[in-house]
Amino acid sequence: MILGNAIWKIVAAGTLVLGIGAGAALAETAEEAIKARQACMKANGAMMGVMVPIIKGEKPYDKAAIDAAIAAEGTACAGWANWWGEDTKPGGAVETWAKEEIWTDKAGFEAAGMAYGKASEGVKASTDEASFKAAFPALGESCGGCHEKFRRPKG
Ligand code: HEC
Repeated sequence: MILGNAIWKIVAAGTLVLGIGAGAALAETAEEAIKARQACMKANGAMMGVMVPIIKGEKPYDKAAIDAAIAAEGTACAGWANWWGEDTKPGGAVETWAKEEIWTDKAGFEAAGMAYGKASEGVKASTDEASFKAAFPALGESCGGCHEKFRRPKG
């Protein structure tokens, strides 16, 4: 983290470690990277689609569904570290809603990512409806916490 290493990796235990850095050797083209991070975010949206109805009491608590949604998000976002190269900034050939601030305030972006990772761990550790409901707000807030500063609204 301190070294600014570009990592958002899921280790075997399921611990989410994340950060952003200079992006060493980028395996992907700018277009692939932007599409991949948007697909990761769509998985985040899908994850909310599983969790929010439970929070609202519209669906029964379902630990397996919650865990599956978190796992799907983890898979979709596994390459996170590689998706923030200089060539993926706004204004390039591929449209992105990422804001310039991601590159001018790397520490802030990293902190927003860490807040997300921590909140996600909290939800993952929850074992019943009460603990899920207690853990969820931090996760919901972490989305907005990053978007507010680092994502241009769509449309
Ligand atoms: C660390 C920062 C960060 C966190 C945390 C974060 N997002 Fe995002 N999100 C972004 C950025 C940046 C974009 C724009 C990506 C682009 O267009 O290149 C984005 C885009 C999106 C999109 C639009 C995807 C598309 O293009 O269709 C959705 C939906 C989304 N986020 C949902 C979420 C949800 C839900 C959470 C929380 C569970 C979340 N995000 C957490 C940074 C973040």
